[in-house]
Amino acid sequence: MAVAHRPPVLASLALIAIVVGLGAAIFACTAGWFSPQRLTPDKVVAAFAPPTGVSLGHRRNHAKGICFTGVFEANGAGSELSLARVFARGQYPVLGRFNLGTPDADAPDATVRVRGLGMQISTPDEQEWRSATINPPVFTVSTPQAFYELLRASHSENPDAMKAFAAVHPEFTKFADWAKNGPWTGSYAEERYNSLNSFIFVDGSGAEHAVRWSLLPAAQPVAVSPDELAKRGPDFLEQEIARRVAGEPQRWTMVVTVANPGDPTADPTVAWPADRRSVEVGTLMAQHVQAERDGPCRDINFDPTVLPSGMRTSDDPFPAARSSTYAKSYDLRTAEAKDYPRGVTGAKP
Ligand code: HEM
Repeated sequence: MAVAHRPPVLASLALIAIVVGLGAAIFACTAGWFSPQRLTPDKVVAAFAPPTGVSLGHRRNHAKGICFTGVFEANGAGSELSLARVFARGQYPVLGRFNLGTPDADAPDATVRVRGLGMQISTPDEQEWRSATINPPVFTVSTPQAFYELLRASHSENPDAMKAFAAVHPEFTKFADWAKNGPWTGSYAEERYNSLNSFIFVDGSGAEHAVRWSLLPAAQPVAVSPDELAKRGPDFLEQEIARRVAGEPQRWTMVVTVANPGDPTADPTVAWPADRRSVEVGTLMAQHVQAERDGPCRDINFDPTVLPSGMRTSDDPFPAARSSTYAKSYDLRTAEAKDYPRGVTGAKP
């Protein structure tokens, strides 16, 4: 008996269309396209844009920076906390970037409070550890949503916007105190850089340790007021680090701090008590500095979720939010290469 079958090719095309349509709908939902109040990488990146306009071709935050290369010399002590190869005694190549926390690639140094260090350490097992650390002791706010609100308030035309923001985000006071009263230095080499976000290290027995880490400068910090820094010139920090590293490699000790049970891992505005166990795991050495325009850090995304096995993200909501936002920024800036042409001589150092 003949049965009227739909031709098999059409049937499978219909199935593919349904699957693709469903997939797109799920993607749109998770991306927040159907819920206008939901935070998306596009919205966050747009909120960074200063009133003076975006620095096309540059990072949407930490836009001013300079590349370095060097090594991370592991002393072996970190292997107790993580099986990542990067902690086995030895030297591993580093590609990094000193930077200023501003969306303006031409901002004068003395106008930017936050300094950062982005770094990628590669190991012979073909794994990478990428991180982006900054000099304040705590982060500005507790959640990515609050960070978005902070960006909006800081660019608002309403003169009371920041006051109103701080009133509903009392945790901001700790960062604001540091920003106002903490010392400034005259060198990237004299800064301490902190992960602030918490991560999980997994050791060889499978045990997990909640950690944060910092890079402590070997150079003695010398306090320099922003007024004094301003007198040294708008791009002094880049010139100084280039000169200093040419003279001798600059070093930082990497210290991993281990949480006690119950220490908050999901809130980078809360520092852990000072008595927590810390392990010196090695030394970062910056050996060569290169201008960003034609340098090796230009087209890297120091996404803090790019981790080797033996490390993973924790319940801290920031790394995931940072990852998607950095990717958006990366896509935009790499598509704008014509606005930041390579091979232009006479550029900054
Ligand atoms: C929701 C919170 C955050 C957002 C939305 C955000 C956003 C961004 C964006 C858009 C970039 C440029 C990325 C690129 O184009 O490659 C960037 C770079 C950077 N961020 Fe964040 N960030 C956040 C939190 C943090 C935290 C907690 C830290 C450090 C503890 C940090 C440190 C840095 C550093 C050092 C860079 C420069 C990295 C480089 O040289 O490429 N950020 N951030």
